[in-house]
Amino acid sequence: MTAAAAIMLCVGCTTEAPRTEALLNQSDYQTQIDGKPVDLYTLQSEGITMQVTNYGARIAGLWVPDRDGNKVDVVLGYPTIDQHLNGDGYAGPIVGRYGNRIGKGKFSLDGVEYQTTINNGENHLHGGIGGWSTHAWNVDNVGDNTITMSYLSADGEEGYPGNVIITVTYTLAGNDLILDYRATTDAPTVLNPTSHCYFNLHGDSEVSTNSHVLRINAAEYTPTDAGLIPTGEIATLEGTPLDFRTATVIGERIEEDFEALKFGAGYDHNFVLDKSTPNEAGLTEAAVVYEPANGIEMSILTDQVALQFYSGNFFDGTSIGKGDKPLCYRAGIALEAQGYPDAPNHDNFPSRVLRPGEEYTQQTIYRFATK
Ligand code: BGC
Repeated sequence: MTAAAAIMLCVGCTTEAPRTEALLNQSDYQTQIDGKPVDLYTLQSEGITMQVTNYGARIAGLWVPDRDGNKVDVVLGYPTIDQHLNGDGYAGPIVGRYGNRIGKGKFSLDGVEYQTTINNGENHLHGGIGGWSTHAWNVDNVGDNTITMSYLSADGEEGYPGNVIITVTYTLAGNDLILDYRATTDAPTVLNPTSHCYFNLHGDSEVSTNSHVLRINAAEYTPTDAGLIPTGEIATLEGTPLDFRTATVIGERIEEDFEALKFGAGYDHNFVLDKSTPNEAGLTEAAVVYEPANGIEMSILTDQVALQFYSGNFFDGTSIGKGDKPLCYRAGIALEAQGYPDAPNHDNFPSRVLRPGEEYTQQTIYRFATK
């Protein structure tokens, strides 16, 4: 089947009922990468079951209840580690050192110019060819509902300065998936780590996420050029098909004739979050996404200043995922809490510089409910 034929078939699939998935097999994830053991870990809370591998600190499966009490796996991915190695490298991992894009891969820091790997047109994306998502992380601690993994990103890796130690803890609590990040460096550097799950609240990679209803707590975005590198402008969302301040079905405006939608081939934009009403922990609500067919709702709370919303525009049905089903056109959305893309090249964007003696921290929560 050609990619075009696969897209045609997949676009039509919208009616299947949600199914309860079996867990992934641990043995299908056991291998060696970078000379380190790779494995699959199963975590459980009252509401959520999650399977995670230390290859890229990757979420492999995330089962949450729908309104009928079925457990639905709401992240796209693959049944085996080999398929992850050969498939879409951004299905579920932590991406870094700089998640999102750096224009032409270049930036200057303290008067020194650095050139990072080019892996997306003429630009650098998600930490480059050998970014954090491509390595085996150390497993520092595992419990029934929590896992901590770390990775030493060496000085010069993908062109970045400084040895960075990144630590990520996933914790399940009730219906929350909590992500805590920490990083230190021994030389000035830039970083923008984020979790890169493709969510599909249908639990079915053949059913488009265009039906999801999305609200994003942002009044502004950062317009880009055709290569999705920010121009430096911070523009209002008012009157654009990117304005999600009122909950809107994703597919409703996705084909509108608007330059930013053309550049992204759909939604692929950085939203400047409204940080005016933080909770006691300093987090604000970034977005809420809901699927009317099964009632699953996911809210994202974060201390980060921005959210990249990507509507799965490059899936073409050729990659076969869990349940032997193709990852179809627009069958997954990424909602990535982070700093602004290309911030190292824009003085008016919040800084993503980390210096020796400082500690980078991030907390982001994915909170599930049913309606
Ligand atoms: C980016 C997209 C990119 C995708 C790759 C997203 O975070 O915004 O442009 O194609 O990652 O999975």
